[in-house]
Amino acid sequence: MKTADRLESLEMSKIRMLSAKVFELQAQGREMYMFTLGQPDFPTPKYICEACKKAIDEGYTTYPDYSGTPAFRQAVCDKYERENGLKFDPIQVISTCGAAQAAYLVLTSFINDGDEVLIPDPMYGIYKNITTICGGTPVAYSLKEENDFQIDLEQMKNLITDKTKMIVLCSPNNPIGGVLTKENLEGLSRLVEDKDLIICSDEIYERLTYDGFEPVSPASIPSLRDKTIIINGFSKAFSMTGWRVGYVITPIQYQEKLYIHAGFQISGIPAFVLEAATVALNDESKYNSVETMRRAFEERRDYMVAEINKTKHFSCKVPKGAFYIFMNITKTGFTSEECVDWLLENYGIAMVNGAIFGNEGEGFLRISYAASMDSIKKACALLHKADADLTAAGK
Ligand SMILES: Cc1ncc(COP(=O)(O)O)c(C=O)c1O
Repeated sequence: MKTADRLESLEMSKIRMLSAKVFELQAQGREMYMFTLGQPDFPTPKYICEACKKAIDEGYTTYPDYSGTPAFRQAVCDKYERENGLKFDPIQVISTCGAAQAAYLVLTSFINDGDEVLIPDPMYGIYKNITTICGGTPVAYSLKEENDFQIDLEQMKNLITDKTKMIVLCSPNNPIGGVLTKENLEGLSRLVEDKDLIICSDEIYERLTYDGFEPVSPASIPSLRDKTIIINGFSKAFSMTGWRVGYVITPIQYQEKLYIHAGFQISGIPAFVLEAATVALNDESKYNSVETMRRAFEERRDYMVAEINKTKHFSCKVPKGAFYIFMNITKTGFTSEECVDWLLENYGIAMVNGAIFGNEGEGFLRISYAASMDSIKKACALLHKADADLTAAGK
């Protein structure tokens, strides 16, 4: 008996495979510097853990509603009104098992066989894979370094066809750390004004922006408001990767269908987890934990970007969001894959092959700087050594 055809082209996450290899080398006693996982190195803030324990003690252990508890849905609406100036009705919020499952819910709710989904290139792989599972066709649009990782509106115009059902946006983006400007999004809004399609906006990194950059949700652009489905979660900003909690905010006209579908897909997120997530949002201003982590990321980013740009063979743009640097390695003469192996074997530095995020990622490595300042400093010293070794080898 064979599994369904739609699973044929699926592959194990290359990031997880690389990380497993690093753990293996560590177990053999090698000193490794790991910049592979998109996982904050901070513990979940204490006030959130305490809220979870309290919720369990208070009996938040029964079946929750498929969409989440009323308090959770209200907290999400309050957050978007307070921080993003966007008003939603709690009925528009559906809790999910992380942003990853939010993506699964959204794509499997909209994509039919043969539908085209426009996906950034480079981009974290879930959207491409889920589109394939749905029988849809992923179509890449380029976010290029020389274009400051903005959408090329001319290219986008040519890619939108009668089959385009959805455009995925991710700002700040994984793996490039790029953010889309308001002007860029307004340009996109003019292209899709009279089109019957959905904008799926992955906003999981929206709290992590730097240099005073204010994140812009496409839902804040009037003509995109009714077309935009927001995906967000707690893994990154609140350092809650293991809690598996996120959400979708859907335009009201799709709410009922998504609600029913969510019931079959996950039948609700544990109420004690939702209670902790509710407190995370409502009490954040008391503890300032997101801002504390954001500042630490900014400091690490500044250090690492400066060190990379001092080298001859590596370079990078200053990323304005998330916790990734997309390092250009074209001057090394290696492919991205070769460069990953070379840095791993010879210097103990683990970074991710940019090409696994799409064709535009060839010539780059993704660095997750959600690592301690100490390991960042040591790895940068090793990167300088690698750079000097390349020069000595005549490169
Ligand atoms: C852009 C993006 N969306 C979604 C996710 C999934 O996040 P979660 O842990 O909430 O499932 C990630 C995780 O790395 C991500 O980078």
